[in-house]
Order: sequence, then structure tokens, then C-alpha cells
Amino acid sequence: MSQQEDPIFLSPPLIGGEEKRYVKEAFDTNWIAPVGPNIDHFEQELALKVGVDHACALSSGTAAIHLGLQLLGVGPGDLVICSSLTFVASANPIRYCGAEPVFVDSDPATWCMSVPALRKTLDRLALEGRTPKACVAVSLYGQCAPMPEIVELCRQNGVKVLDEAAEALGARHGSKLAGSFGDLGVYSFNGNKIITTSGGGALVGNDGELIERGRFLSTQARDPSEIGAYEHHVTGNNYRMSNVLAGIGRGQLRVLEDRIEARRAVFDRYLDGLRTFDGIDWMPEADYGIATRWLSCCLLPNETIRNDLLRRMHKRKIDARPVWKPMHLQPLFARCEYETHSESKDESAQIFNRGLCLPSGSSLSLSDQERVMEVVATTLS
Ligand SMILES: Cc1ncc(COP(=O)(O)O)c(C=O)c1O
Repeated sequence: MSQQEDPIFLSPPLIGGEEKRYVKEAFDTNWIAPVGPNIDHFEQELALKVGVDHACALSSGTAAIHLGLQLLGVGPGDLVICSSLTFVASANPIRYCGAEPVFVDSDPATWCMSVPALRKTLDRLALEGRTPKACVAVSLYGQCAPMPEIVELCRQNGVKVLDEAAEALGARHGSKLAGSFGDLGVYSFNGNKIITTSGGGALVGNDGELIERGRFLSTQARDPSEIGAYEHHVTGNNYRMSNVLAGIGRGQLRVLEDRIEARRAVFDRYLDGLRTFDGIDWMPEADYGIATRWLSCCLLPNETIRNDLLRRMHKRKIDARPVWKPMHLQPLFARCEYETHSESKDESAQIFNRGLCLPSGSSLSLSDQERVMEVVATTLS
């Protein structure tokens, strides 16, 4: 090991060829505000790319989830079903609305929301006479959740679906893309995502009126007025994306397919380079689709080995991370309800205990990836 080793990041941004041109255009034309041609184009291009009719560009994925829940009618005292194995930003907006989350376990075959656990949750709540308002179904680490089943179950129970694809832009379920199912879909363009606007998000869907209402609420819900008066009937937010950042997004959208190919190649190299080590279980790819492998994730034999590996990685300046800590295990959500995939096992807790995310950047060099694999190999030998 050399003291001079450079850090290897988990998922750094990678700029394509055209971002600067769009950003320069914004400066040259003085469209520096959260309004302008880059936003309009970005929304149209995103909608086209993911196969929906409308998109609303926002300041973050978290803002998109909050706005989406508001648009689906979630308010104080409501129940909202949510995947447990996810980043806290999937669940926090439920509380912003004054609602309470009910968490659902993962299916070990996808790591995304378990359909049997969702069914049990809906049946139990129905027996108790409690109808949840919405379901936040997360497509995790670049894998599309089993959205057709989730949407169908929720529809039968009168529950709206927020297709939370913050981590899964470009992931496929058959011929459709993550985020294009459900009543509304969400993406994040945070700097660590497969493509980025440095910070940003979007709400997408086929209901034009709903998306237009989203634009209204995301710009302080100012009532239309002939003279531009400032009158408000409802509480809005300042959630719109800047025209400068939408320019970055336009350039990044053009290279999405390249980024997916690069991330899948990173995953395949890990799989191949570490194939002789029995102790690693790689995150499965669902049989119904194609994952982007936004992050290359795996399970180690147990928590002790996983933690030992993380320490060794950090010593070598390698930014590996544990898998998300499930929401039902978070002190923040300690009193929330939770349904497991099977009677005997808490799948998301197991994935959390043994799970690891390896550096997965689209520009990860072969030599850096070899350094990562060397640390894995010495830990498991
Ligand atoms: C699953 C998930 N949901 C929501 C978010 C929130 O997105 P943002 O950081 O753009 O607010 C993220 C990532 O940051 C995420 O990983």
C-alpha cells in the first residue's frame, strides 16, 4: 500500500460533452432564474426519455417526493406505505405532510418492496378499517421495483402510488422504465446519481393537470393575476429547478445510456474478478428487467466481516458504504408499523447487516477497481 493513493469515490459525477454549452447559453441569454428554455427543454426531453407525457423539474428528489405526496392528497393524520430499505429521504416527506409511514420489507430476489408483505399490510389495514392514502414504492440501487404488481394491489385497495425512482433512472421493467409506473414518478439528479444536475429532481406522470398543479405548488402557489399580484390561497414551496442546472441536466440526459453501460460493466468486472470467493452474494437482478447497477452492491457472509472490510477500505481511501439502514430500524421511525416478507425473517434487516456498496462510478478506472477488489480479496482470504 502506498501513502500516496488517491481516494476512490463511491459514485462521483461524470460530465458528458454538452453540459457547458447549455449552461453557457443560460448565461449568455441571462436565463439564470428558476425559469427559462433549459427547464422547458429538460422537462420535455426527460418525459420523452422515460416514456411519460409530462415532467416537472425540481430542486431535489426530496422536494419531488414531498410535492408528489401533496399532489396525491396526503395530509395530516394519513397513513402512507413506504419501502423500509431505502434512504431516509423516501420517508421524511411523509412526515413533512403530517402523515405517518407504515413500512414494508424487501423481497430478497430484488431488494425492493416485497409484494407479499405489501399484500399483508393492505389486508391488515383493511381489516382494521384503515385505508392508507398512498404508497411510496422505491426502486433501489438502480433496480426497478415490481411496479405492475404494486400498482395493481394498490389500485384494488384505493391507494395512490408514488413511483420513487430517485436511484433508478433508466432501470427497466420489461419495456417500461422505473418512475413511469404509478400515479406519479420521482427522480433525483443529486451529484451521486447516475446522471446529475449537481442537485435536482423531477416529478413525472401522464396526468398533465396534476403536473401543472405541481409547477404551481413548487413556485409558492401564487394565484394567477392579470397584474401579477401576489395572492395565495394555498401553501406552496420554492422547489423549482434553476435554468442553469437544467442545462447540465440536458447534457447529462444525452449520455444516460452510456452511463448505464459503464455502471453495468463495473458490476460485471466485480463479479468476474471476485468469482472465486464463495462468501459474496451479489445483489440479484430481477428476472423482469434490466438494472442500471447505479451502485454495485453485495452481501458479505456476516456483519463482522462486512465491517472489517469497510474499515480496510477506508484505510485505503476507498469510499465503500454499508447498505441503507432500513427505516423500521431507525430511531426516527421507532414506533412505526412494519410488515416482513416472510414470517420467520426480516429480509431488509439481513440485507442491511451484511450489505455493502462498492465504488461504482461511471468513470471508475480499471486500476482503481483492482485496488477495491484486492481489499475484498485479502479480507475474504
Ligand atoms: C432512494 C432515494 N430517495 C430520495 C433521494 C433524495 O434525492 P435528493 O438527494 O435529490 O433530494 C435519494 C438520494 O439522495 C435516494 O437515494
